[in-house]
Order: sequence, then C-alpha cells, then structure tokens
Amino acid sequence: MKFAVFGAGGVGGYLGARLADAGHEVHLIARGEHLDALQSSGLRVESVVGDTAVDLPATDDPAEVGPCDYVFFCVKSYDTREAAADLVPLLGSDTAVVSFQNGVDNEAWLAEEIGDDHVAGGVAYIFSTIKEPGAVEHTGGPARFVFGELDGERTARIEALDEALSAAEGIEAVLAEDVRVELWRKFCLICAQAGMTATTRLPLGEIRETEASWEMYRRLMAEVSAVARAEGVDLPETVVDEWSEFVQDLDPGMYSSLHYDLTHGKRLELDALHGSVVRHATDVGVDVPMNEAVDAILRPWADRNA
Ligand SMILES: NC(=O)c1ccc[n+]([C@@H]2O[C@H](COP(=O)([O-])OP(=O)(O)OC[C@H]3O[C@@H](n4cnc5c(N)ncnc54)[C@H](OP(=O)(O)O)[C@@H]3O)[C@@H](O)[C@H]2O)c1
Repeated sequence: MKFAVFGAGGVGGYLGARLADAGHEVHLIARGEHLDALQSSGLRVESVVGDTAVDLPATDDPAEVGPCDYVFFCVKSYDTREAAADLVPLLGSDTAVVSFQNGVDNEAWLAEEIGDDHVAGGVAYIFSTIKEPGAVEHTGGPARFVFGELDGERTARIEALDEALSAAEGIEAVLAEDVRVELWRKFCLICAQAGMTATTRLPLGEIRETEASWEMYRRLMAEVSAVARAEGVDLPETVVDEWSEFVQDLDPGMYSSLHYDLTHGKRLELDALHGSVVRHATDVGVDVPMNEAVDAILRPWADRNA
C-alpha cells in the first residue's frame, strides 16, 4: 500500500515509521529543518515501545509523491486549511485522507477542500513530539489510533487500512463503529486537560487535588459532551465519569501540549479546542461558560503567538 504522511511530526512521523517497518511504501511531507534532516539522515523514532530508524522519501511538494491509497493528515489544526489545499496531487479516485489531529472540525475543513468522499476520521492516543529535526520521541500513551469512515460505513478501503495498521508493530489499531463519537469522546478530555493545565499553568496533580479546579475540569467535559449530544452525536452521558476515573491514574506531573505551546511562545490550537466548543455551542444553543472562560483567558495568548 502507498501512504503519504502530511505533517511528519510527533504523530505523523511515528505512524510513518511504523508503517514503513511493516513493509509499506511511505512518503513523508514535511518542511523546514525537519525536512532537511529527514532528507539527509532519515527519520529516527525513539519510543517507549521500541526505537526504529527509517530512510523514506521526504518532500515539501506533494506533486512529487503523486496519488496514494491513504494520506495521514497530521499537521497542527491551525495549519489544516492551508495544508488541505495542497492535498490534491496525493488524491486518486478512492484515496482516504485520515486526520489524526485533535479537534472536531478538521474533517469538515478537509472536506471543504477535497470533498467528503476523500475524508475519514481519526483519533490518536499517543504522546510524541519532534525531539530535534529528523527525530520523533514517543514518550508514552498507548499509541492507539482509532479511525473510521465519517458515515460509519465499513468500506473496503477502511477495512484494508485496519488490516495494515493492525499488522504494524507499535500501533494499536481500532476501527471505530462511529468515529464521530470517538472524535467527541477525546475532545471532552482534551478540552479539560488542555484548558485546565494551560489556564492554571499547573500540572494535573494539583488540579485534581483542588476541589474547585477539579470541578471545573469535570464541567469542561460535561459542557463538551452536552454540545456533542445536541449535535446528534451518540456520546454516552457516562463519558465524564469515565474520563474522570481514567484521569485519576495519570501522572500527577502531566500537562498538555496546549500548556507546552503557551509556555514556549508557540502557536496555540485554541481555535480547534475551546474556540470550537464555543462555536458549536452557539450553533446548537447550549451554554458552555467554562469553555468560554478558557477561550477568553487564552485568546490574547493565541493572538499574540499567532
Ligand atoms: N503529539 C502528540 O502526542 C499528539 C497526540 C494526539 C493528537 N495530537 C494532535 O495531532 C496533530 C499533530 O500534532 P503533532 O504533535 O504531531 O504536531 P507536530 O509535531 O508539530 O507535527 C506537525 C508537522 O507538520 C508540519 N507541517 C505543517 N504544515 C505543513 C505543510 N503545509 N507542509 C509540510 N509540513 C507541514 C509541521 O512543520 P512546522 O513545525 O514547520 O510547522 C510539523 O513538522 C495536532 O492536532 C495535535 O493536537 C498530537
């Protein structure tokens, strides 16, 4: 199978290397110093489940790659629209572009550029970053990748993708029954974990131990899940309790990439997180005061770092 990874960073680089190790043709789309390093020295993955190094074709020009069976779309969400416009050379008649980004809008933004038929949904449960140009570090998380057609159909291409990902070492592949539920399920957790660690600038442990902050953490999730249900997504009401229990076992020192980006002067994915919750909530008439507060507190930073 022929894969392109558009945005071969923490998530995309990890996926690309694992699929290449499984014997697939993988092309990396990257830019800047990272691209230079990929071209000169290949891609190194340092991972808690086993290191690897692969030498793959890498470019910033999708026309050099041509049509692929699958494109894993793994840029930060603030780059989605611009990058989506460059996808066309990678598309054949049945190509699936699977976004493994955070947020619930990327699929729609992609579809606006390339049409619904080419877009599938994906969710990544992994902690991985570009450690230095040419090197991706996977520090934790199950490396679980959940994906599916947006309408839930079991197409031949999504089943073939399931087979390919399931056979790759270092990847836990889950073909979702309803990937929209999975996108919103993760969105609940991200909005709480990212929102609370970024606004307090404190790690999870201190948030969990502070009654008012933990209450806000839960309310952020409850608001997102209410918006999902108002949009007709079949997210169970138990999601808040399930994540609350899950979060008890996480490392007390854990932050979020939103916190990292905020404290390192980098661009924030705020528009795809709390900004998105507020937009969706307005459309369906659900009150989301906690998410509005996070959005308002971080908005000047998002503007400044943009
Ligand atoms: N990392 C994780 O552990 C993790 C886990 C779950 C979900 N996610 C989500 O997955 C998405 C990707 O995150 P990430 O951490 O993998 O990001 P990342 O490490 O920053 O990787 C994205 C890469 O795409 C490149 N890129 C962006 N636009 C491009 C373009 N037009 N052409 C070529 N390359 C381009 C970026 O280059 P520049 O650096 O030059 O911009 C960067 O190297 C985000 O939505 C994130 O929230 C991340």
